[in-house]
Amino acid sequence: MTTEKYAYIETFGCQMNVQDSETMAQLLADADYMRTEKISQADLIVVNTCSVRKKAEDKAYSMLGRLRKLKKKKPSLIIAMAGCVAQQEQGDLFKRMPYLDIVLGPQNIFRLPQLVDNTGKNGNGILATGLSPSFKIPFILPEMESDLSHSRFVTIMQGCNNFCTYCIVPYTRGREISRPVDDILNEISHLVENGVKEVTLLGQNVNSYGKDCKSGNNSSDALTTDFPGLLRLVAKIPGLLRIRFTTSHPKDLSEDLMRCFEELSNLCPHFHLPVQAGSNRILKLMNRRYTIETYLKKVEKLRQYRPDIAITTDIIVGFPGETREDFEATMDLVNKVRYHGAFSFKYSNRPGVKASGFKDQIEEREKSERLTQLQARQKEITMERNREYEGRQMAVMIEKENMSSRGQWRGRTETNHVANIEASGPFKPGQIIQARITEACYHSLRGVSI
Ligand code: 5AD
Ligand code: SF4
Repeated sequence: MTTEKYAYIETFGCQMNVQDSETMAQLLADADYMRTEKISQADLIVVNTCSVRKKAEDKAYSMLGRLRKLKKKKPSLIIAMAGCVAQQEQGDLFKRMPYLDIVLGPQNIFRLPQLVDNTGKNGNGILATGLSPSFKIPFILPEMESDLSHSRFVTIMQGCNNFCTYCIVPYTRGREISRPVDDILNEISHLVENGVKEVTLLGQNVNSYGKDCKSGNNSSDALTTDFPGLLRLVAKIPGLLRIRFTTSHPKDLSEDLMRCFEELSNLCPHFHLPVQAGSNRILKLMNRRYTIETYLKKVEKLRQYRPDIAITTDIIVGFPGETREDFEATMDLVNKVRYHGAFSFKYSNRPGVKASGFKDQIEEREKSERLTQLQARQKEITMERNREYEGRQMAVMIEKENMSSRGQWRGRTETNHVANIEASGPFKPGQIIQARITEACYHSLRGVSI
């Protein structure tokens, strides 16, 4: 008789990690591990870690610390540490946490079931942190039965070649590797055939999709195109109502990509374009390889191609050497662009990256003050931007009915704003309704169906 086995997966950090966790869950399901939300029920626990900022890393360590007791109570429990912290710290983690069974990096998630099978064979922990530029991302058809969601993420590439001086990602996720076009199209077609209406193409730097193949690093050359080419192919898939993508690097934003926003009716008018800083001096120290002038020109052109486009960004304050004047340049920038939204962070020193050796690290208190000032201003701008939608008609893709307030339906506009719409329904998730926006809030828009 086979007894059921359960896997509990905890994810920290970015969407890339969320996707990796989904992939691991699916592979484990094929190996007869059912997913559980109850940690006490688990026979296998996977902690998928993030090391982009210290806070995320600390959270993962604190969870792993708590697992020590659990392992003591249940010695058969298998504990795997995955993600960017695992990739970075490698075998040292077994010394620090001897109760770990597996340490695996982002490129090794596909081996998880096999690694789980091998645990306990020689009494040592298993380390799987190889990173190869010629790695091929395996094709796995996404499971649909347990997930009826109408909106899915589809990874189109892994890794990053940019080496921004503050960022750990190129070290933990390796070089850029694009998935073959056919794999991506087959995956999306499969999703759409199973009811998915919206996809978000995912990668650390989607704008450079396909470049690794052109340079001959990838033997799937014949199967790739560039990013605008990929968008045009994806846009043709019948039944796919909305396409989004994230994340982009400004230096690789081409006019051809801007043209796609004019050309493709199912490409949503939202662009996440991380600027990081408003001062050219800091951008240079960050190795971003664009100037504020070229960035602003691209924003302007993007708005010419698609006047209703909502632009959001990422900003870091307190990068080493950032003077008050540099910071004011960032404030000027947010006032100029008037972003629809911004994620902003205090610079977090990551061991091993170039900027960790830079002089003039900024004091924590100063960083906090700058962040507060920036966020307060951005909040006003976001509110002003949201008010611009009042009175307008917008297409809203329904997610679900608000259970505490019947007749209120929650969804998203093409511009990626959360919208709460008064409508009689019933609607299916993924259905698009037309609404008139009646009120702007900071986090969402309110409206009525028309
Ligand atoms: N400190 C603070 N923020 C960082 N980011 C990446 N590395 C760091 C760091 N060391 C931010 C960038 C990036 C986002 C995903 O995380 O703004 O765009
Ligand atoms: Fe990090 Fe820069 Fe690559 Fe983004 S583009 S993942 S910030 S190195």
